Amino acid sequence: MQSRPAAPLPACAAALAGAPAHRRELFEDRVERWWPDLLDGLDGIYPDPVATATRAVVSAAHAFTERADDLHRLDLRRGLRPDWFQQPSMLGYAAYADRFADGLAGVAERSSYLSDLGVGYLHLMPLLEPREGPNDGGYAVADYRAVRKDLGTMDDLRTLTEVLRQRGISLCLDLVLNHVADQHEWAVRARAGEQRYRDYFYVFGDREVPDQYERTLPEVFPDFAPGNFTWDDDLDGWVWTTFNAYQWDVAWSNPEVFCEYVDIVLELANHGVEVFRLDAIAFLWKRLGTTCQNQPEVHALTQALRAVARMACPAVVFKAEAIVGPQDLVHYLGKGRHHAKVSDLAYHNGLMVHIWSMLASRDVRLATHALQQLPPVPATTAWITYVRCHDDIGWAVDDADARAVGLDPFAHRTFLADFYSGEFPGSFAHGLVFQHNEETGDRRISGSLASLAGLEAGDPLAVSRILLAHAIVLGWGGLPVIWMGDELGLLNDPDWAQEPAHADDNRWVHRPRMPWPARDTTGVDAGLRRLLAARRSLEHLHASVPAEVLAPSDPGVLLVLRDHPLGPMLGAYNMTDEHRPLPAERLTDVGLDPAACVDHLGGGPVTVHDDGRVWLPPYTALWLT
Ligand code: GLC
Repeated sequence: MQSRPAAPLPACAAALAGAPAHRRELFEDRVERWWPDLLDGLDGIYPDPVATATRAVVSAAHAFTERADDLHRLDLRRGLRPDWFQQPSMLGYAAYADRFADGLAGVAERSSYLSDLGVGYLHLMPLLEPREGPNDGGYAVADYRAVRKDLGTMDDLRTLTEVLRQRGISLCLDLVLNHVADQHEWAVRARAGEQRYRDYFYVFGDREVPDQYERTLPEVFPDFAPGNFTWDDDLDGWVWTTFNAYQWDVAWSNPEVFCEYVDIVLELANHGVEVFRLDAIAFLWKRLGTTCQNQPEVHALTQALRAVARMACPAVVFKAEAIVGPQDLVHYLGKGRHHAKVSDLAYHNGLMVHIWSMLASRDVRLATHALQQLPPVPATTAWITYVRCHDDIGWAVDDADARAVGLDPFAHRTFLADFYSGEFPGSFAHGLVFQHNEETGDRRISGSLASLAGLEAGDPLAVSRILLAHAIVLGWGGLPVIWMGDELGLLNDPDWAQEPAHADDNRWVHRPRMPWPARDTTGVDAGLRRLLAARRSLEHLHASVPAEVLAPSDPGVLLVLRDHPLGPMLGAYNMTDEHRPLPAERLTDVGLDPAACVDHLGGGPVTVHDDGRVWLPPYTALWLT
């Protein structure tokens, strides 16, 4: 683009007519601020970027005018503290509204439990109207403008966000933007022959083009949804379906689709949703000859979407759900021209995978190497750190990383799958194999945190292992998210397959129901609360400061340095079932005085033994400042 056209303020006049003068001025200033980001995002993607961007701005003007006063106030407050999600006091929690409580009203009633735990961010699993029948845990949305009937209504959603906001809890909702359910109105109208809606999808009359794409496309669900295209009689064609056959990928190459999602984001934001989890975002853009993941257009579109949100509802932040390799992952927090302009949060899948890998191998060398490869991310963003989530664990161990530390990548991934499915001799884990890909040999794993960590097997060290894993994610300096029930050490749900729609998806084994009253009999809860209290008290854990993984002294002890302006913080994590040493000079090396430093987990000084080393008991962590 030669010179950038001016922001389309006159086009917003009608939408803003009812707003008081100070609001109109505020909106105009925001448009001026974000218009370049919006336009640059769409430039080169759509045939008439100015026209598409202008439509989006007018939508933003309408949403802004309709936005409730308390949400305008929230926008202001977030502007005063843009690092709210980076604070050490921030804790996330993720749950199903019907498994944690009895729908949205039930979640509101249970919200004191969340406050008591210290939760400031709640990710409620998909709660918008899904298709009838199997719906991939709600990830097959039939209507973005309605709540699942058994969970409540859009008014209940608004009420819930109000209740949560009063408690200082931000609601995160999934924005499934790669696909809709085959029962969504767009799909229904496409099937009925309306060209406008057929153009919302990728439909091919024969196999020629799909076969060309298939050559380089991986399979997400090789077991229950092989292939990436599904034949539909009514369409008389093959429709792109990356995930299940009933999840139709939408065509983001069509500007109409962009405008639709703009309206959806704005509407949900006006119901008080503060964080959008951009589900399966890596898949948004298709390009022949590639895996059709992580294409540059994905980031440009995210930048554009975020710019629109910043105009109408700047409290909103985006969280990228991109389960991809480290070099691709950093782009979701912004790299190059999109630096700090895309998602504010992204899942640290690599950390999660390597926690499990370290626990199985009792060795930190691969994790250290792999985590060191992750390029730095913008200081205004934060990793979502987690040990478990609602999905399976895929063994995303990079071939080059494994080789660099002398491991055969395939053999290591096989070992991990064997270990966590409990097949490996001496394994403490009780997991299930999810999606055995015959072609690649990949076996992903389902299972609750506690069952994978040995609690189901009755391993006496299981609780220490669970707490150690949490210590890593809480001590990393991101936004840590606890998966519902993990705070109580909930085991695999033995009845997971009872619901017919869940029977062929064993991820339900680790999506149990919350057993109220939530009493802990394992000791996990008390231990976790100690970790959380320590985290809250440590300024060093602000997410703007990166975590740096240091070369280990002992192959069983992971070392994580946070070089904060207040002084260094060193995390040491013994991933083994033996006592392991940390030489005192490692403390001095990073600027800590062994005689004066404090272990915030032990609550006192550290003991340097006569051999000049600090000894870590099995599965323990130190947070030293
Ligand atoms: C995300 C979700 C997963 C779902 C998929 C398709 O990866 O976490 O549960 O199956 O997207 O929407």
